[in-house]
Amino acid sequence: MVKKVTDTDKSTENKEKQYIYIVQASLEPSSCKIGKTNDLERRLKEYNNMTGKSKSNIYTYLFTCEVKDMAQVENAIKDKFSILREETNKEIYFYNKALFAGYVKFIKSHELFIKELFVKEPDVKQVVKIVKKTTPSLKERGLTRYDIMQKAQNVDNDEFYTRYEDIEKELSMYDKRIWKNKVVFCNCDDAVDDDERRTSAFALYFLQHFEEFELKKLICTHYSGPVDLFNQGARGYIFTKTGFKELKTYPKGYTGSFDDPISLKILNEETDIVCTNPPFSRAIDYWKILIDSGKKFIIISNESNAVTTAFIPYFKNNKVWTGYNSVYSYLNPKKELVRAAGRWYTNIKIKNRETYKRLKIMPLREIPDKYKKYDDSKILLVDGGYIPSDYNKIFAVSSNPILNGLLEKGYKIVQDKKYNPHINGKEKFARVLVQKA
Ligand SMILES: C[S@@+](CC[C@H](N)C(=O)[O-])C[C@H]1O[C@@H](n2cnc3c(N)ncnc32)[C@H](O)[C@@H]1O
Repeated sequence: MVKKVTDTDKSTENKEKQYIYIVQASLEPSSCKIGKTNDLERRLKEYNNMTGKSKSNIYTYLFTCEVKDMAQVENAIKDKFSILREETNKEIYFYNKALFAGYVKFIKSHELFIKELFVKEPDVKQVVKIVKKTTPSLKERGLTRYDIMQKAQNVDNDEFYTRYEDIEKELSMYDKRIWKNKVVFCNCDDAVDDDERRTSAFALYFLQHFEEFELKKLICTHYSGPVDLFNQGARGYIFTKTGFKELKTYPKGYTGSFDDPISLKILNEETDIVCTNPPFSRAIDYWKILIDSGKKFIIISNESNAVTTAFIPYFKNNKVWTGYNSVYSYLNPKKELVRAAGRWYTNIKIKNRETYKRLKIMPLREIPDKYKKYDDSKILLVDGGYIPSDYNKIFAVSSNPILNGLLEKGYKIVQDKKYNPHINGKEKFARVLVQKA
């Protein structure tokens, strides 16, 4: 007997499968396209037969999956990743491995996701390229050969990179509301790239938290100094809720330096909060520009700043204090762990500072003898975290009590310069002079 075909059967037959895909062109590694289709094969052909496309630029899928309602899933992706879509061509999304993992995770956790069909395996580890820069010329950059020699000497100390986990550990401590509707500027070599190993962890962190923090804008600039770790030249990106665009307005010779006129204009006219790890070798200039700008900041710098004359006035005048954590491990250009004594510094309110516990504030007579002595000028030196609670004269401490929050506990710095004590004519390590307020 022949089965009669009902209307319901017909509609099931015709009901096409629905797919979401992520596709990438071989010559455009820093972007990908995310879309929907009923026919993955046909869609890929369409990409590869697009008019005006170079033959060598081949599209391949990075990820495909079946979903229940592709239009709804596509809209959810557009919404979720709006900052990672190019402002002028909304089909294009920023790509690097970490961001790609975020796209895939989001799609797979969507309630209308049915099953994964394909996901591209990560590439084998690439060697990070370090390229000696030849352009722009010294003249264009207003530098002399002497300046370059000076810079080159400092490069080794500067070329280390902040780990994502250290940024996360610090920034997760602040009240999320500080970011709401704010423009964040990462202005020291905070590259954004198709390879997340060539992407600054600051840039990545803010991209991944843009929505949660309700940021208004993220501006990341890349510095093209004598050694260009990220091999990108000077460039920058602006990310907003309506998409991202490359900074294309700089004049010829823009270096991406924090003190370049364009960077200064962004800092002074657009920025609310600066967040980065500036070059240790340029810390004096960097702090001056940053603090003079009056902007909020959370940055990493050397732990010894609190006993260094160039920085002491900022601590003294309450323009800066420490953040929550120290940072002792970084990555060098080969992505190996290196050590340096860094600390977070900020001018944003700190709550419940853990390190207060390290301040041993007590009457002078209770401080063990080995931690208190008078120098040749009869100035009391206290070490080991001890602080006299009943001593009204000036005394000298190392950087640690300042870093641990002494100035928030009723003590003040009384001299702009560092203090180098001498005992029996022998110079001791640098300290800072403080007094009960
Ligand atoms: C300690 S690294 C940190 C890099 C990146 N911000 C991070 O946290 O991973 C300091 C960076 O500042 C760069 N740099 C050096 N001079 C600079 C300048 N004048 N303006 C901006 N960046 C500079 C160095 O090339 C180096 O990449």
